[in-house]
Amino acid sequence: MSAVAGIDLTSESFFANPFPTFERLRNEAPVYFFEPYQGFILTRGAEIEALTKSPHFSSRRARELLGGMGLVGEDAASKDMLAAWSGMVFFQDPPRHTLLRQMVMKGFTPAALERFRPQVAALVERALEKGRREGEMDVLSDFAEPIAINAIAELFALPEADRPRFMRWAKDLLKPSGVAVNTDDIRASVRRTSNDMVGYLRNLVAERRAAPGDDFVSQFIAAEDGDPRLAGEAVIQSFQMIGAGFVTSTNQITNTVLALMKHPEQLSQLRADPGLIRGAIEESLRHEPAVLSINRLCVEDTELGGTRIPKGVFVHAMTASANRDPAVFPDPDRFDIARWPNRQVTFGVGAHYCPGASLVRIEVEEALRALLTLPRWELAGRPYNYQGSNFQDRGPTSLHLRFPKA
Ligand code: HEM
Repeated sequence: MSAVAGIDLTSESFFANPFPTFERLRNEAPVYFFEPYQGFILTRGAEIEALTKSPHFSSRRARELLGGMGLVGEDAASKDMLAAWSGMVFFQDPPRHTLLRQMVMKGFTPAALERFRPQVAALVERALEKGRREGEMDVLSDFAEPIAINAIAELFALPEADRPRFMRWAKDLLKPSGVAVNTDDIRASVRRTSNDMVGYLRNLVAERRAAPGDDFVSQFIAAEDGDPRLAGEAVIQSFQMIGAGFVTSTNQITNTVLALMKHPEQLSQLRADPGLIRGAIEESLRHEPAVLSINRLCVEDTELGGTRIPKGVFVHAMTASANRDPAVFPDPDRFDIARWPNRQVTFGVGAHYCPGASLVRIEVEEALRALLTLPRWELAGRPYNYQGSNFQDRGPTSLHLRFPKA
């Protein structure tokens, strides 16, 4: 459990570029106990896969995870928040996980999302209108954010006027994940946000139950009403899907554009052969993922990669590092849109594999197709910085792009 000299997984420089740190850990300590988190860090594909398959590691960790962020207390706001989060599919093990997963995935199929593609393309065009006129935009706030929020909002039929509120809520919910920035004010505001959003969705579910539509809130209600084991789940699973589906997609769209800007020869190759677009998306997911890790709670003393893991500790599995594991990806730091095969693990591994993966791929593809109609991209004056002091949202704080006006 000895420290690897100079490793700090909390610093600004780590979040700006975590990959050299991951490389050192893969080589020197692939199962590494990091004191400030009081948890283990995994950096290689083999151990990450073993973690997701082992019954000794649990996803039922809402209380421990929120507790570690100082969000579990005796007050009513804390209790309400914990009750909602504990119900999410994300925080379940079988058999409850299997049941809720079926509920969430029914209808959220690749084929159903494919039928939604034209609507995503329309949202992309709408988001690009102003940029086309002005010849400049912030890819993050002018383009990626409206695409991501409106896509998830249309799937759940959230009223147009309330979408800015959902954007704020989704961003606020991520604030406490940073180990360095937790304050009582942030914690109070996260509890408030979580409970406000659940309260809003409770009203929406009541309205939708009375007047169902062709949307996922209505589908979740139909599932709930058909199975007594699913009582109350339409609210909780809508909360989770809407909460999970905004910041992540926003960052992945922006990261993809930035990755291509940083590798102009790859961008030229894509312009010359648009058939490479899906390869470019997979490579961006591998090389510049919006999410760095998954985590599990150890529920029985065990061993991983030759290291003893005691019951009660968290294991943070760096999927972003597994994506650069040379045992799986030749020349892993090279950004290569023609890379094949590309078994990136950005959407996770195994039973909890991200249900939003098909939606994300459609959003990024439509966004990229539209941006490629602009004949030239240039980074406009302002430099970009990476946001984040957590493993859940990685992307630049802004990305100003300039291009010829339409
Ligand atoms: C680039 C964007 C995204 C990334 C990188 C991402 C990543 C992930 C990962 C790694 C997991 C597995 C967590 C685990 O094993 O504990 C996951 C689960 C999940 N994601 Fe995503 N996600 C993205 C977008 C979305 C979107 C758009 C939605 C909703 C529409 C969504 C909804 C969920 C849900 C509900 C789960 C829990 C599934 C379960 O536990 O069975 N995600 N995501």
